[in-house]
Amino acid sequence: MDIIIRDNYEEMSTYAAEIIAGYIKYKPDCVLGLATGGTPIGTYKELIRMHHEGLDFSQVITFNLDEYLGVGMELERPYHSDQSYARFMHEELFKHINIKKENIHLPDGQTEDPKKFCIWYEAEIKRVGGIDLQILGLGGDGHWGFNEPGSSLGSRTRVQALTEQTLDDNYEAFYKNANIERSKMPHFAITMGIGTILEAKNILMVVNGSKKANILAKCLEGPITSQVTSSAIQLHSGEITVVIDEAAASKLTHSGRYKHIEKLKHQFGL
Ligand code: GLP
Repeated sequence: MDIIIRDNYEEMSTYAAEIIAGYIKYKPDCVLGLATGGTPIGTYKELIRMHHEGLDFSQVITFNLDEYLGVGMELERPYHSDQSYARFMHEELFKHINIKKENIHLPDGQTEDPKKFCIWYEAEIKRVGGIDLQILGLGGDGHWGFNEPGSSLGSRTRVQALTEQTLDDNYEAFYKNANIERSKMPHFAITMGIGTILEAKNILMVVNGSKKANILAKCLEGPITSQVTSSAIQLHSGEITVVIDEAAASKLTHSGRYKHIEKLKHQFGL
């Protein structure tokens, strides 16, 4: 696991975007797993900038991690009060790059049959050969996607009830500005499971800010537990890169060692 500590959010975002761009250049039809949230916005901005300089998304295939149950996925309608992750992805990334609409996969929050949809979503990921690089943020309660504490570490794409902490965090981020009452925000979501995420060939996690410092330490240095579902990162067998800023790194016991390893690897061209 490579843990890369950068001075601030901008440097973290640039580093993460360079990793993603590297995959796209190496394998133009690569399959990316995408995340929402405030954290990856800077990474997406940087990818958009790279696209303006020639980075080609025309063959890239994407699968998003999650979506609130009950909200829409029509990408082109005006969204006033629509807080869907589909809208978020469209606004923050898709509409700015040359990705093909048919290559975008988002959990359908308006599906009439969530169970059937989840089975189909898993099958689609398999059909394209699996996810090459899964981009992840970190929830305040340690979740990936919406895999709340108590989710099985082998879980698959499914409907998940959101915890009070997640409702609070996401209310601040997505609903408050739209003047939607907290009681009216969705309490369920469709999310890829931890088992699904662990099958991605490689993982890139981005985390910033002091608010995430304690939970990040639990994720990376604590015991592997379904109470912090992202601690499953310690079980992943592919290349793992965790890119964080100094504030998020502040509660890590071994941050000095991670910096030292990065320097050594750089020195030896590894
Ligand atoms: C939501 C998403 C997660 C995301 C998390 C953190 O709960 N479902 O995928 O990682 O928010 O968001 P932020 O980056 O805004 O802290």
